[in-house]
Amino acid sequence: MDFGQEQKTSRLQLREISPDEARRICRFILQVAGISINFSKNRFLETRLNPLLEKYGSPDYWSLLTEAKADASGAMAQDLIDAVATNETRFFRDAGPFELFQYKIIPYLTANRLPDSTGKIPIRIWSAACSTGQEVYSLAMCLKESLPNLRNYKINLLGSDISQRALDRAREGVYSKFEIARGLDEARLKKFFIPEGNAYRIRGEIREMVNFKSVNLLEPINGFKEWDLILCRNVAIYFRQDHRKWLFNQLANTLEPDGFLVAGASESLAAMCSRFIPKMFSSCTYYQRRF
Ligand SMILES: C[S@@+](CC[C@H](N)C(=O)[O-])C[C@H]1O[C@@H](n2cnc3c(N)ncnc32)[C@H](O)[C@@H]1O
Repeated sequence: MDFGQEQKTSRLQLREISPDEARRICRFILQVAGISINFSKNRFLETRLNPLLEKYGSPDYWSLLTEAKADASGAMAQDLIDAVATNETRFFRDAGPFELFQYKIIPYLTANRLPDSTGKIPIRIWSAACSTGQEVYSLAMCLKESLPNLRNYKINLLGSDISQRALDRAREGVYSKFEIARGLDEARLKKFFIPEGNAYRIRGEIREMVNFKSVNLLEPINGFKEWDLILCRNVAIYFRQDHRKWLFNQLANTLEPDGFLVAGASESLAAMCSRFIPKMFSSCTYYQRRF
């Protein structure tokens, strides 16, 4: 069978979603994850959700949703979110935020943070919505390159996401040649990765610098405080305006008074959260709290 024919067949095999099913599933996903999907995107929903009909043996999308709501373990709801979430990411995405980190934020933090009772200088960084890990590992590589005496620092580098599937991949730290080619240069590939079959595994020294955790950014993030840097990029674009406002207000509460926030290149906080002042480093916008 040629590829075109195969595509046509798999399209024919997709079970159709009714407008009512689409509306209800989109409403559920909005409630649980804040991800706003246009429910007229039938083809998108059918393509993403069909594998779940197979997996759970559900006769239609209506049953799938009813079972997900009734599933006390939350595993089915998690599968629904995983299916529709856009996990697109890459190493050193947009370059600017990583230059900001390497040439402004790291020097600022090393000069301005005091050692704690163990004699180490604490640095706390959170990649909120880290997807499959490329963003937070890019930060870890920058730290490794910029701080040869890493032992003098207590680095708390956290990657979080709502998607378990994405977090599992991030924890594994194995990337295909295609994923590696999108953003990593030859020097960093050699320095920080080990070839494994057709893929590359991130070296233990970088993997061990990062902790991963499941966090829904639309739930109160209790206990998360005093971050020196938060990257929250390319996730708020999927949220409604009121959810975006709530999120950035919440992030302002968790940031150190002189901490840094970086949003996605197309995500301006103007008119969204008056508690931040936009600043520029080279061509990269970042935000700091207003006093
Ligand atoms: C497009 S990726 C962005 C990844 C990375 N920050 C970057 O810019 O390359 C968006 C990520 O947001 C996550 N996400 C969506 N809704 C979320 C929520 N309510 N809480 C936490 N993460 C969420 C998705 O699972 C996905 O991995």
